[in-house]
Amino acid sequence: MKRKDGSKSAMRNRAPVYQGSSTPKVKWIGKIERLAWGGLGVGREEDGRLILLSAPLALFPGEEVEADVRWKARHGEGEVLRWQTSDKRRAPSGCPVARLCGGCDLWEAGSHAPDLKKLMVEDLLRRQLPDMLDWAWRPAPPEAKRHRIQLHWGNRTLGFHRRKSHSIVPVQACPAAHAVLSAAMPRLQEALEEGALPSRPQRWELATGTPAEHVFAVMEDGRAWRLEPDGWHPTTDPITHTFQNATLRHRAGGFFQVSAPWAMTAFRQTFEEWDVRGNTLFDLYGGVGLFSGLLQDRFQSSVLVESEPHAVAWAKKNFESLGIAGPCHATDAADWIEDGLGEPEDVILVDPPRAGLSPAFTEKLRTAKAGTLILVGCDGAAFCRDVKRLAPEWRLENLAVLDLFPMTPHVEFVGRLKPC
Ligand SMILES: C[S@@+](CC[C@H](N)C(=O)[O-])C[C@H]1O[C@@H](n2cnc3c(N)ncnc32)[C@H](O)[C@@H]1O
Repeated sequence: MKRKDGSKSAMRNRAPVYQGSSTPKVKWIGKIERLAWGGLGVGREEDGRLILLSAPLALFPGEEVEADVRWKARHGEGEVLRWQTSDKRRAPSGCPVARLCGGCDLWEAGSHAPDLKKLMVEDLLRRQLPDMLDWAWRPAPPEAKRHRIQLHWGNRTLGFHRRKSHSIVPVQACPAAHAVLSAAMPRLQEALEEGALPSRPQRWELATGTPAEHVFAVMEDGRAWRLEPDGWHPTTDPITHTFQNATLRHRAGGFFQVSAPWAMTAFRQTFEEWDVRGNTLFDLYGGVGLFSGLLQDRFQSSVLVESEPHAVAWAKKNFESLGIAGPCHATDAADWIEDGLGEPEDVILVDPPRAGLSPAFTEKLRTAKAGTLILVGCDGAAFCRDVKRLAPEWRLENLAVLDLFPMTPHVEFVGRLKPC
């Protein structure tokens, strides 16, 4: 390890002993040993203490960096300031505000971003599910773009939140978003500046369907406008997503997969590979019925459970238009589920929010009688915890990790579990 002035003597004095809630920031220069789950680079102090480093433009293992580090009781945490050496795969960023914007972390990894994400997943699995040696990685194709983006308007500026801050980075376009959303950003800015749309400071969502034709702008209170050649028009129309001749609709501003066409392809491929089929699909935390729709030709019926009333209303309409037999329940999945859910020919699919399964819900799942359980999770750590909690009764047979959130460290875990 080198000193900042280039001398090679040890920097032991740069790692002060933890003395309370906050220690001063110190400069640290060293090598990124590996990438950890969550996108952090791992460095090591001479005495063996680990340092977790974040960086705006991707970190490659082996790179030497200079960072500001604060020491905690047993480890350091810091932010990379500059690179002393850089990996030859590092590429010019495709986004002009990549260093400032809090939206993406991996722009300078370019086409190698999925490789870095795979390393992060490997790190998590090595520690949390060490027996899961055989798993499928589905990297995002270059055309996978966001069909929903969250913008912020304040101080007459439209943009994204600055990295680790709530201030706004002004943006005119976003290369991670679908081109129609990117092109709509100056139109939204113009309408807010002119007062053609409510101009109080707040969050705005821009969203489009599949294929990406119409653009919707949605305010925090749920009111929506559709972009037409002459400007923004109030609308209550749904957003539509068509995949393999099946169309799903949802309220503008409601939940749907962010990179919708790529997500639908990746899930469908995964289910086909595992030959997921059966009598009844229990689509729990089902949203507007994405999984019931994707799997409609593989089940006799679906039972959807979802707590958000607007989503359930659209799920019912989607079931009707797709000809899916079965009820859609507007309730808390943990209140709805009973002991012994399903029969051996049935499949339970659970896709909870980021925090994963509650202990009470997990206990009910452990008594389920269905022959297959599919667990979907957008936080890998919560997913691994839930797999371990289910382990006495359910064994993880297949795991696929889908790169549904390109240029960020986030991924989607999908597991197929069988009764033990
Ligand atoms: C990750 S989203 C998945 C939605 C759907 N499976 C999809 O992929 O489009 C999680 C869903 O769970 C719903 N949800 C959150 N808490 C819930 C609860 N306690 N009971 C039932 N649904 C819930 C949310 O409204 C959201 O639609």
